[in-house]
Order: sequence, then C-alpha cells, then structure tokens
Amino acid sequence: MKITYLGHACFLVEFGGKNLLFDPFITANPLASHIDWQQIKADYILITHGHQDHVLDVEAIAKNTDATLISNFEIITWFSEKGLKKSHAMNHGGKASFEFGTVKYVHAVHSSLLPDGSNGGNPGGFVVWGESGCFYAAGDTALTQDMQLIPLTCPQLDVAILPIGDNFTMGYEDAALAADFVQCNKVLGIHYNTFPPITIDTEKAQAYFASKGKELLLPKVGESVTI
Ligand code: NI
Ligand code: MN
Repeated sequence: MKITYLGHACFLVEFGGKNLLFDPFITANPLASHIDWQQIKADYILITHGHQDHVLDVEAIAKNTDATLISNFEIITWFSEKGLKKSHAMNHGGKASFEFGTVKYVHAVHSSLLPDGSNGGNPGGFVVWGESGCFYAAGDTALTQDMQLIPLTCPQLDVAILPIGDNFTMGYEDAALAADFVQCNKVLGIHYNTFPPITIDTEKAQAYFASKGKELLLPKVGESVTI
C-alpha cells in the first residue's frame, strides 16, 4: 500500500487498486497550501468523525471525484441530506466488504459534533484489510484499552496511523503505548503541528519511538510512503 500524507489528519491510501481518502481538511490548512484538492483522485472517502478539521473538504472532493463515502450512520445521513447519496453507513464493531477489501469501524475516545451543530454520532477509527495488507486509521482518539481488541479481531497490522499531537488527542508517548496495544511497531503520525495547541517536537517524538523499539514515520505534506 502507498500512503500519501495530505496534512493534519488527511491522507490518501492506494489499496486494492482503489484510492481511499481519509478525513479531508486541505483548503483551510496553511501547511497544505501546496496541495491542489482538485487533483486528488478518490474512489472512497472515509470519515472518522464529524469535526470540521476532518470533514471540511468532503463535499467538494466527493462531488469532484464521485467518491463513495464511508462513515458512521449519523455522518452519512448528514452528507446524504447535502445530496451526497453515494455512501455506506456503518457503526461501531461492524465490518463490511468493499471491492478493495474489508473495513471495520472501531471505537475512538473523542467527540463528534458536525460543523453546524448536528449530531455526528460517536467518533471512530477504521481497520482496513485485504490483499494489500492491513492498516489501522485511529481517527482522533485518546489511548484506550479497546485498542487491544484490534489484534484479537483483525489481521496483523502493517502500519498504525495514529494522532500524536496531544491536547485534543493522545500525544506521542501514549501513541507509543497504543502501538503496543495494537501490536504494530510501525506508526505513521498525524494530527500534529497544524494548530498551536498541537505543536510538538517531532525529533523528540521520533527519538521516543526509537527508544521503545518502534518506528514513527512523519512524511512531509504531499510525501508518500510505501509499506
Ligand atoms: Ni476531532
Ligand atoms: Mn481533529
């Protein structure tokens, strides 16, 4: 699988012959000003929760690409009322099969109000697996013991995509423990440095992971890693 980091909590995963875009927040992110959202080719858009910094560009990109949305029932309903009818609603603990592989919607400890104040359901993350491998996109979350269920219920992860910016989510120290919980030593860090409260020392974070025998990948905005 090839993962391209698009800033904040947004990334594109080439998986099973399809392009899976997660939590698009590009047009209001000054760190992603060199990313042209109109050039993004998405077959699916996966949305972890309702916050603005995860849904801002969903509508524009979905209309531009005709992508299918995957999220919880409340978020899918909200976008459906905006005319985005190509979608698949899920809820916690459920998995579903798609042409690129299997998606499971898993628990996250966070909140999920939509930008207009609508109920965005409960926040979640995704585990995705198929012939291209298996990855966990945690969404915005605290460290939670529920993460220990992932290795019991899903295939071995190749990479865990975890928030590391602290303040609104777990910080990198807790993310290193989350890597233990999900039994995956390769982590791609997201949700850091976009806003002052989530600014971190990235060298310190990577050194901390290395001290625990783990790898913290921090691709630049627009950069890709192949796993
Ligand atoms: Ni959030
Ligand atoms: Mn967020």
